[in-house]
Amino acid sequence: MLKADIGLFGLAVMGSNLALNIAENGYKVAVSNRSPSKIDDIMDMAGELSGQFIPNADLGAFVQSVKKPRSIIIMVKAGKAVDLTIEALLEYMEEGDAIIEAGNANYRDSMRRYEDLRVRGIGFLGVGVSGGEEGARFGPSIMVGGTKEQWHNAEEILTAISAKFNGEPCAAYLGTSGAGHFVKTIHNGIEYADMQMIAEVFGVMRDGLGMTPAECAQVFKNWNKGSLNSYLVEITAHVLEAVDEKTGKPLVELILDKAGQKGTGRWSAIAAQELGVAATTIEGAVAARSISALKDERIAAQSIYGAPGAGNADISLEQLEQALLAGKIAAYAQGFAIMSKASEENGWELPLGTIARIWRAGCIIRSGFLDQMAKSYEKEQTVNLLVAPDFVKIMQANNGALREVVAAGARGAFPLPCLCAALSYFDGYRQANGTASLIQGQRDFFGAHGFILTDREGEQHGNWPSTL
Ligand code: 6PG
Repeated sequence: MLKADIGLFGLAVMGSNLALNIAENGYKVAVSNRSPSKIDDIMDMAGELSGQFIPNADLGAFVQSVKKPRSIIIMVKAGKAVDLTIEALLEYMEEGDAIIEAGNANYRDSMRRYEDLRVRGIGFLGVGVSGGEEGARFGPSIMVGGTKEQWHNAEEILTAISAKFNGEPCAAYLGTSGAGHFVKTIHNGIEYADMQMIAEVFGVMRDGLGMTPAECAQVFKNWNKGSLNSYLVEITAHVLEAVDEKTGKPLVELILDKAGQKGTGRWSAIAAQELGVAATTIEGAVAARSISALKDERIAAQSIYGAPGAGNADISLEQLEQALLAGKIAAYAQGFAIMSKASEENGWELPLGTIARIWRAGCIIRSGFLDQMAKSYEKEQTVNLLVAPDFVKIMQANNGALREVVAAGARGAFPLPCLCAALSYFDGYRQANGTASLIQGQRDFFGAHGFILTDREGEQHGNWPSTL
């Protein structure tokens, strides 16, 4: 019997769509799932592609049906389910085979799994897949970490099923174990910041300018034709113009304002803290989701302090557009700074230009300016996007509007945690003479931690008065 080119275990929405994508690209794919009904579902869905599938509820038969050396993608819920699936598959896999873990895993789990499998002679690729359901079906962005050898075994298929930007595949090998899932985590951190800043701007339009969701949708549509062109701005317009069939009201006015989070945004904030990288815009987005969850407390607090002032933001739509652009650049700058530091710490040699390239299509944060970011990281040794020549021009032209919007937010009590953090990050980064001199003095005062004086060599201490 003809064997499959690749196996895929885990047929929830993402897994099923990925399997259909593989089949559509002309590869034979073996599929399996813990509950067999999902195998029947995908065979029903496959239609004329069904000849490309080898379905098997029996795990041993599933593994046996894949060509050696076998590459088996697993697409199950992050965490314990991944370990259990790997353990179950290992019973049937042989030396030289590989597992490709394509869920949203914590990169540390991927490093551990890579090591565990390596000693058992099995390869492991930790692969970040972005693009949601549609991306999985028609072309996601694929971020790969693991050994080059395993990548070469799976490269043809992963490249074929990935999104294409002007014909260039959005799939790449990014480094050894952990690198793929780390990059996906940071992608999601930027995604959180991007979404939050869009929501903040919507808040100013709604509460400060008294605009309806339909009017806001039109604005986002127009912005999507300019320098803010991006998938998230595009879908924002669709969300804002949607109407609830039952009531005829704008859907967004009926959706409960509590944002869910599965953890990747938090992981990127934790990574930033662990690495000592300033990523306040990303952290602000995670915190904003946490505050959003406190619906009852927010209602109680508003009854004490009052609601934000309605219809009184002294700000133009053009300023909001410019502020969002500047904020987005700060968020991407932070994301790339986290990856740069993590790369150093883990010896990954993450190719930042390539990462920007494979984010240009397929993934959730695809944006017009990613092409420019890729060029900036490839052309010169960019220390931070804020000082890359192309982005200096954008920040010079737009940081004033960011300042005005943040000031208007502060005056009108419209919460703008990410835009505000983006502005402070920018101002902190471009301030040559900061105020950490005072912090150093304080640290030395109470703890004799020492400081450096700018006009002499070596660590010094102050001759501080006693406060006893
Ligand atoms: C993607 C998305 C995807 C998923 C997020 C949602 O790149 O395709 O990021 O991975 O939609 O995990 O995350 P939250 O539930 O945390 O918002």
